[in-house]
Amino acid sequence: MSFAIATQKRRSIRALQPISPVPDRNIIDLASNALLYVPSAFNSQTTRLTIHFSEAHRKLWSITGAALETNLGSERYKSSGSADKINAYSKGYGTILFWDDIEVLEQMKKGAADHYKDKAEEWVHQSNGMHQYYLWVALEEHGLGVNVQHYNPLIDEGVRKEWGISGSWKLRAQMVFGLPEKGTLVGEKEQKVAIEERLKVFHIDGEEEGKL
Ligand SMILES: Cc1cc2nc3c(=O)[nH]c(=O)nc-3n(C[C@H](O)[C@H](O)[C@H](O)COP(=O)(O)O)c2cc1C
Repeated sequence: MSFAIATQKRRSIRALQPISPVPDRNIIDLASNALLYVPSAFNSQTTRLTIHFSEAHRKLWSITGAALETNLGSERYKSSGSADKINAYSKGYGTILFWDDIEVLEQMKKGAADHYKDKAEEWVHQSNGMHQYYLWVALEEHGLGVNVQHYNPLIDEGVRKEWGISGSWKLRAQMVFGLPEKGTLVGEKEQKVAIEERLKVFHIDGEEEGKL
């Protein structure tokens, strides 16, 4: 499957199996390529990734479940459906965590011209999102189902402590992947606003295409 086709097939798949159709090495290479080739403002390279396979994947979701249960209380943790969700993510094959190195952001702010200083943080988010999209599509291209979760900042401290991660890394997203559960059906993607309302095409004379 080409990357272009994978962008059209990419969806959020939340029922996953602890199986991967490709070796871990391929997934590690994809993450390396994201870090090597995805752009960042001023080439600041603020994104950081950690990949959690097998026991490390299950440990991550047990840390997340425990943090949520403490936060919500046992009753609400179960009745809100959170326990079932955490259980489902835990059944995946692995998780990629997306972080930003805040120390590098601070350096970028210091070095930036005045009119850029207040934009630096936004650009760091944008670059992190590009890494997420690159890997979401690349994993799809390799036959994996993927979903993205946000239990940060609740779990930042516990995750940093477990894996000795620098205090300057701030967690942004958790990308769970694995072979989709058998029989997973993905409906047609709903388009909430017609494409003509979202895409405007202009030529040099200012006339909108289609209205010429
Ligand atoms: C910035 C962003 C945040 C998201 N956060 C979550 C999330 O926390 N949990 C989740 O299950 N899905 C999350 N999603 C997935 C969206 O719900 C999903 O992409 C959207 O409903 C469209 O469905 P699709 O991915 O199948 O095309 C997020 C997606 C984006 C782009």
